Amino acid sequence: MSRARPGGEPGDMIQIENLTRRYGGFTAVDDITFTARPGRVTGFLGPNGAGKSTAMRMMVGLTTPSSGTALVLGRPYRALPTPTRHVGAMLDATAQHAGRTGRETLNLAAVMAGRGRRDVDAALERVGLTSREAERRVGNYSLGMRQRLGLAGALIGDPQVLVLDEPANGLDPAGIRWMRGLLRDFAAEGGTVLLSSHLLHEVEQIAQDLVMIGRGRIVAQGTKEELLQAGGTLVRSPDLAGLGTALERDGHEVTLRAEGDLRTTATAEEVARLALAAQLLVTELRTAGGSGLEEMFLQLTAADARETGAEGVAA
Ligand SMILES: Nc1ncnc2c1ncn2[C@@H]1O[C@H](COP(=O)(O)OP(=O)(O)OP(=O)(O)O)[C@@H](O)[C@H]1O
Ligand SMILES: [Mg+2]
Repeated sequence: MSRARPGGEPGDMIQIENLTRRYGGFTAVDDITFTARPGRVTGFLGPNGAGKSTAMRMMVGLTTPSSGTALVLGRPYRALPTPTRHVGAMLDATAQHAGRTGRETLNLAAVMAGRGRRDVDAALERVGLTSREAERRVGNYSLGMRQRLGLAGALIGDPQVLVLDEPANGLDPAGIRWMRGLLRDFAAEGGTVLLSSHLLHEVEQIAQDLVMIGRGRIVAQGTKEELLQAGGTLVRSPDLAGLGTALERDGHEVTLRAEGDLRTTATAEEVARLALAAQLLVTELRTAGGSGLEEMFLQLTAADARETGAEGVAA
């Protein structure tokens, strides 16, 4: 694990271990363990109610864990000296004080982070809010403007770590592209970014690492490439049954799909070699990639996801 950008500290990252949060008899976050590494964007992906916000609130000391630990830069958030200089968080952009102007909101954040007026101007510019917009009251902001302001607040302390809950919410396509660039640059400079989303495609486009959560539990995690590969290979053939038998005989798992093709754990090359040896015609051959990930994600929303999904692709 490399050090973060100059001025960073060793252990520049987010370390979640066996983190659990119960509300009465209900377990909102259930024994999750993962690391968000420096220099990378980690996507925290899960359907509505999966436990993303609850987990992120625990990371920044707003919710107390029932058990387990959430360390940022090697310490609990609350034990960091001037936390907002190290960790920029944006948890609920709609919770900003409606009566303050954007600039007042940022001034306050700047004071907390020990930053000055110039940093406020820089942050406003970085998120694309004009000085005229900054003089308006937050209550009159659009959702996208609030997100930009929230991001400015997260960035104002010049932190090494960003924890962002659904930052793309409310942004238009140009805004999403802009944010993607900003977060990628932040990571490229050695920063650690953890961002949540309930939209697979959004996360897929920005994150290098993925943590997929469903009903409080992690069902898959790894690099994006690993998870895309985990979707297996899709094959079409006039003799699917014959091909399936050949694949199974060779030790690969095979699932016949309603789409009229089969999914297998074999690589495309393995399928091609087996088909050749068995003299079977293959009419389509491709890695499941994103569609495999999508299927996994859609399964999370199924009623019994906790039981069936928990086996997922382990890290
Ligand atoms: N303070 C609380 N008291 C009781 N239950 C809670 C509390 N906070 C969260 N929960 C429950 O924990 C579960 C996870 O909620 P959470 O907000 O973390 O999900 P999420 O993944 O952020 O969902 P979304 O995509 O909708 O934002 C939900 O069922 C929610 O109702
Ligand atoms: Mg949430």
